[in-house]
Amino acid sequence: MENTAKPEIELVEKNGEVTLSIGGEQAMQAWERDLMWASADMLCEYGHEFYEVGLGLGLSALRIARNPVTRRHTVLELFGEVEELFRTRNPGLPGSLAIERGDFFERIFALPSESVDGMFFDPALDMDVWMDKDLWARTMPEVLRVLRPGGVFVPFFSTKPELRWQYVSHFRSVRVERHPYVAYDTTEYTYGTSGDAYIQCFRKD
Ligand SMILES: C[S@@+](CC[C@H](N)C(=O)[O-])C[C@H]1O[C@@H](n2cnc3c(N)ncnc32)[C@H](O)[C@@H]1O
Repeated sequence: MENTAKPEIELVEKNGEVTLSIGGEQAMQAWERDLMWASADMLCEYGHEFYEVGLGLGLSALRIARNPVTRRHTVLELFGEVEELFRTRNPGLPGSLAIERGDFFERIFALPSESVDGMFFDPALDMDVWMDKDLWARTMPEVLRVLRPGGVFVPFFSTKPELRWQYVSHFRSVRVERHPYVAYDTTEYTYGTSGDAYIQCFRKD
């Protein structure tokens, strides 16, 4: 998602399905809830202070913020409209939760070193961003810098059993959990609408 773009943002609730649409793309759907919760619970095994990239429907954000171990959970979101939709749908947010506005690929350079125990990473990115080798080479060392020793980086699940090149060479230790999933018939962003999802947890030495 480019930070200069002002895409149309819409929450579509239809036939029992909930979709957050950004720029006409399915950015997030509510069927992901159990995968988001499993990822959030995994993250919370590693400490008390967490950071998250991408608010979306806020499923993972609320799960992390409401975990009794969590002292502080900060979520970075690119679009104000996404935050407004989330706040309207979720009055009475936990005191541990802070939502900040910004672009991760800029903000990461400003985050203090060794300041979080875990980062959940779930932005919806355009393919050209995913494929930008220089961007990842600049960004991932900053993620490592921001994590405390023993801290973890949990990216959103993969529906292929492979470790993403963007992250894998930056860590020595990876934990992977397989979770069966069933998406909506209308879901466009998974390989098939059911199968196995792999939640990956990269740990800093
Ligand atoms: C897949 S959704 C997040 C879903 C979330 N985990 C949940 O449980 O609902 C992706 C979110 O990342 C945001 N995003 C995309 N690019 C971003 C960036 N560069 N920095 C911060 N947020 C970004 C999008 O606006 C969108 O709200």
